[in-house]
Amino acid sequence: MRKAGSMTEAKKLFIKTYGCQMNVYDSERMAQAMGAEGYVLTEVQEDADMVLLNTCHIREKASEKLYSDLGRLKPLKAARPDLKVGVAGCVAQAEGDEIIRRMPLVDIVVGPQAYHRLPQLVRQGGSAVDTEFPAEDKFDHLPERKTEGRPTAFLTVQEGCDKFCAFCVVPYTRGAEVSRPVERLLKEARDLVAKGVRDISLLGQNVNAYHGQGPDGDWTLSRLLREMAAIPGLDRLRYTTSHPNDMDDDLIAAHGDLPALMPYLHLPVQSGSDRILKAMNRKHTAEQYLRLIERLRAARPDLIFSSDFIVGFPGESDADHQATLDLIRAVNFGSAYSFKYSARPGTPAAEKAPVEDEVSDARLQELQALITAQQRATQEAMVGRVVHVLYEKVGRKEGQMLGKSDHLHAVHVDDPTGRIGQMARVKITASMTNSLSAVPVTG
Ligand code: 5AD
Ligand code: SF4
Repeated sequence: MRKAGSMTEAKKLFIKTYGCQMNVYDSERMAQAMGAEGYVLTEVQEDADMVLLNTCHIREKASEKLYSDLGRLKPLKAARPDLKVGVAGCVAQAEGDEIIRRMPLVDIVVGPQAYHRLPQLVRQGGSAVDTEFPAEDKFDHLPERKTEGRPTAFLTVQEGCDKFCAFCVVPYTRGAEVSRPVERLLKEARDLVAKGVRDISLLGQNVNAYHGQGPDGDWTLSRLLREMAAIPGLDRLRYTTSHPNDMDDDLIAAHGDLPALMPYLHLPVQSGSDRILKAMNRKHTAEQYLRLIERLRAARPDLIFSSDFIVGFPGESDADHQATLDLIRAVNFGSAYSFKYSARPGTPAAEKAPVEDEVSDARLQELQALITAQQRATQEAMVGRVVHVLYEKVGRKEGQMLGKSDHLHAVHVDDPTGRIGQMARVKITASMTNSLSAVPVTG
């Protein structure tokens, strides 16, 4: 979309995105849809003609954030009654018009399957909360992708989830699994590459369950990856988020076969206790997860793994928690997200007695300390190595470029002649808390 200032009377849109990468992608697409209506993005909420909150429902805290942010918008709306306030995303899907009843300052509520109707809703006012809409219709009606000169892009290939983990709202908020057709995805990927994108992350709530319609029947994710890896100029591919049970043989093999498939994989396990995994309805054991990691490492030895963990799931004992720590030690993760269990209305686990707060807090701290130590060690091990970094931004310091390595580490490179979109060979010189430092390697 155009930058603010390119049109004198352009209206300004402020978007706040909560939650996952899918929401980041969706916000970008909504910004472009509103761009066609003459809206330009602003980073300053007070300047906006429209404020759009793209929400997340995954944990209670994420959900409640919407209401505190809406509360803070009250004075702005009171001062400027013509300010439009929209709520999008998974809270919009889960709570629908209830949001307007609770917070009358909200003008528009739009669920994730109805984003293509946002411009019309803004013109008319009102709400569209739609779970039934087939995903492709939405993508059909959104304007063509713009990349703003960025060398990286997300590409949603699949939405929804049929797994029904006992703690999770996603199957209810994002609905059943829908995979987008192969031809459209290949076209979108080629178009992105033609616009200068060199690194594409395929997105889906359960991305490795992808089974999209191809020219000769259903395609798996590995087939899609193999085809995309052959697009000239597309140097890097990633995919997220995967379920261990959908990691099929060919997808594992693809990690060994495709140099463009980057050696970093986010593979949530949630717990290392078989008892808890069963109660979570994960349908795999800790041992099966460890064997899977082994097979993936056999295919691509330099793979770095990340994961998601929940502590304090109902019924979790100290022994269960220790089993999770054992699994973490056995895998040695490069990073991980960990969360305290949050009971979500309507999910099976919400019926069960919770673990005491202080116990969960202590377990979370212990788990995070272990992950932090593994992350640090993984980063330290990169120091001295020569790696590729795709420059995404100019760094804060003079003469510095910022980008990602193959292993998805954020890397600051002292490179005054560097330019955005360049794939640089660099030598890692130091490891900081959440990033690496490097200098270019010539020749
Ligand atoms: N409580 C805590 N964490 C949750 N997640 C999903 N649902 C819940 C919940 N009810 C976590 C899982 C998932 C990640 C996206 O969020 O770890 O993988
Ligand atoms: Fe939620 Fe992921 Fe389980 Fe699906 S696989 S229910 S999205 S945690």
